[in-house]
Amino acid sequence: MYIESKMNQFEITLRNPDRVLTVAFGEATPEQELSCRHLAAAEWSMPLSKEDYVEQEKYLSQKPLVSNRGWRLWCLSLLDHPSEVLATCKTIPRELLIRDVSVVGRAKAYCIASVVTHPQYRGLGLASRLLEYVSAWLDGPGDAVVSVLYTSIGDFYERRGWAKLPAIQSTLSWPADFSSMKDGARLPVTNPILSTELLELCKQDVRDVEYYFEKLSVQPDEFHVSVLPTADLISWLHGRSDFIGNRIEGAPPRSHGSICGAADSWLYWYHDFRKQQLAIQRIRIPQGPSQVHREALAAMLVDAVEEACRWKLNKVILWEPNAEVLGAMQILQGKFNIKSETLARHNKSVPSLRWHMGGVKRTTFHFNEFYTWS
Ligand SMILES: CC(C)(COP(=O)(O)OP(=O)(O)OC[C@H]1O[C@@H](n2cnc3c(N)ncnc32)[C@H](O)[C@@H]1OP(=O)(O)O)[C@@H](O)C(=O)NCCC(=O)NCCS
Repeated sequence: MYIESKMNQFEITLRNPDRVLTVAFGEATPEQELSCRHLAAAEWSMPLSKEDYVEQEKYLSQKPLVSNRGWRLWCLSLLDHPSEVLATCKTIPRELLIRDVSVVGRAKAYCIASVVTHPQYRGLGLASRLLEYVSAWLDGPGDAVVSVLYTSIGDFYERRGWAKLPAIQSTLSWPADFSSMKDGARLPVTNPILSTELLELCKQDVRDVEYYFEKLSVQPDEFHVSVLPTADLISWLHGRSDFIGNRIEGAPPRSHGSICGAADSWLYWYHDFRKQQLAIQRIRIPQGPSQVHREALAAMLVDAVEEACRWKLNKVILWEPNAEVLGAMQILQGKFNIKSETLARHNKSVPSLRWHMGGVKRTTFHFNEFYTWS
């Protein structure tokens, strides 16, 4: 457990009534974990009850991505009453690929998530102090080359060292009487991805990302970065939608993606019950422009829309659409009256990145799709 030094304590002054509290930073003890989860539940439990949200967090803590202490809960608590948590966040591991002018290599990274301060203690600098302490851990024992987070609160994190990255989102919507009638549309055949296929597909995808990085042409001061789409990471969000599906509908989603074998293409999706949307986590199509891949992509996106309808989700979203995706969306408009809108994301889940020790580097973030989010 990373804690317990005077360096990790500070005082805050409250008004009405005037009192000074000593606050301690550390990794949550089992008792504090529960308080942290209740604090997060008050913000993000929907559509679950707060109790179910706490259960969900316990369930997720056993998933391969984070088991064996991969997921750490951090907190600020009262020194005299450690069970009283004032602010919390968590760090979740990510595997990163980095390319500079000479080498491609894997590196350790973390996603910071669920930053929250108890409503009674907001505006006192607690979240700022928490992030300072967590940064010190990331730069020290955490051995993180990079940390990422997703801001929905404007420039708050940018002022604390996490630089915002470009963020583009496409949103698909369809008429109320939508029925795909895909059979008559002459699109390639697709199938649901089985959970037993996921490991192999992810391995292939990771190999392709590595190959793509090998081939990049890189200037001496440039850094290219990507979060690797490993099976542990992709299936992590599936675990969350399975848990919520079970609680709200009595069964988990049957499918987490679609594959078109003939075009060697596939995509994964995440049932985002909280935001009432189906998020495309990752699209994998072979490199280079091709009408076949575009049509395969259109067919898989129709599957996504059908899946969204099945679960009464209002829209399908995807991040970082490339030319092939934009081409596929034109097919969707023409054949199925599925509309799409592509816009910069300024206020919601904007990816933000901090290098080790707050270093400044000329960085290009590749494959910045939804799978990188937590
Ligand atoms: C955001 C939050 C964690 C800030 O905690 P805090 O302990 O009050 O933060 P601090 O006192 O250290 O800093 C206050 C800063 O938060 C900013 N802030 C708080 N809520 C904000 C919001 N909804 N949008 C934008 N900025 C916000 C303030 O403008 C201030 O910024 P500045 O100091 O750079 O001017 C807290 O308001 C909270 O728990 N909100 C609900 C959960 C949430 O939205 N978490 C962030 C998810 S990305």
